[in-house]
Amino acid sequence: MFLEINQVGKTFTTEEKQFQVFSDINLDIPENQFVSILGPSGCGKSTLLSMVAGLEDTSEGSIILQGNKITSPGPDRGMVFQQPSLFPWLNVHDNITFPLKGKMSKKEADKRATHFLKMVQLSRFRDNYIFELSGGMQQRVAIARALAMDPKVLLMDEPFGALDEQTRHIMHDELMKIWQETQKTILFVTHSITEAIKLSDRIVVMGTRPGRIIADIKVDIARPRERGNLESIELEKEIMDLLEGEINKVLKEELSR
Ligand SMILES: Nc1ncnc2c1ncn2[C@@H]1O[C@H](COP(=O)(O)OP(=O)(O)OP(=O)(O)O)[C@@H](O)[C@H]1O
Ligand SMILES: [Mg+2]
Repeated sequence: MFLEINQVGKTFTTEEKQFQVFSDINLDIPENQFVSILGPSGCGKSTLLSMVAGLEDTSEGSIILQGNKITSPGPDRGMVFQQPSLFPWLNVHDNITFPLKGKMSKKEADKRATHFLKMVQLSRFRDNYIFELSGGMQQRVAIARALAMDPKVLLMDEPFGALDEQTRHIMHDELMKIWQETQKTILFVTHSITEAIKLSDRIVVMGTRPGRIIADIKVDIARPRERGNLESIELEKEIMDLLEGEINKVLKEELSR
């Protein structure tokens, strides 16, 4: 299998307290699959993505990419964080080319920056500093930076959450194009069920307290996926019921405290 998440668990230890986010997470992901992860806030989606990125270690189990155990970050994995994490002392263009330094010629890096800046519609802002951009614009720079690195696996943590509806649709189409052209494997965290249904081959639904996988759904709807088709609506309802069950469980627990 291309990417294997084997019996992975995570426990955070802070001061004398231990907190188990999840345990026994298992996912086999073939190359080129587009996998979305949905789940209530706090179930461990970002934690799981950080572990695949190699930024967070596993407390139990292992993550294997093309036969190699993940122990640190690498150029084969690109991450778009929930909060855009850019270099404030560099302009937009240099933020995108910075990770490419030493890996290719300056000319090639510039070419990639130009290409992906156009894609995220920020060509006009190439010389601006990060503080001069809005949150959504910063997130688009972060997306361009991850894509310019051309990783095998793209890890995207609510990448379009801060964007307006129209821009989000444009980004969906662009991401689909890139995914189809480049055979990338994508792990995509979102809170939007419709977004997950529009984009994914497969939707993994997580529950919380304790974090775990409660459903692993194959999305068998022909592409390009039109908005509001019947199959999508049915699937949306199925997932909404699953998530509502989890959220109600947390609510009940909170109210009884
Ligand atoms: N560095 C850390 N130290 C201690 N606890 C942490 C740390 N990072 C995350 N957690 C805890 O782990 C749990 C999962 O957090 P995580 O950020 O993965 O959730 P999430 O599913 O991404 O939520 P959201 O949808 O709100 O982004 C939370 O309860 C959080 O408090
Ligand atoms: Mg998160």
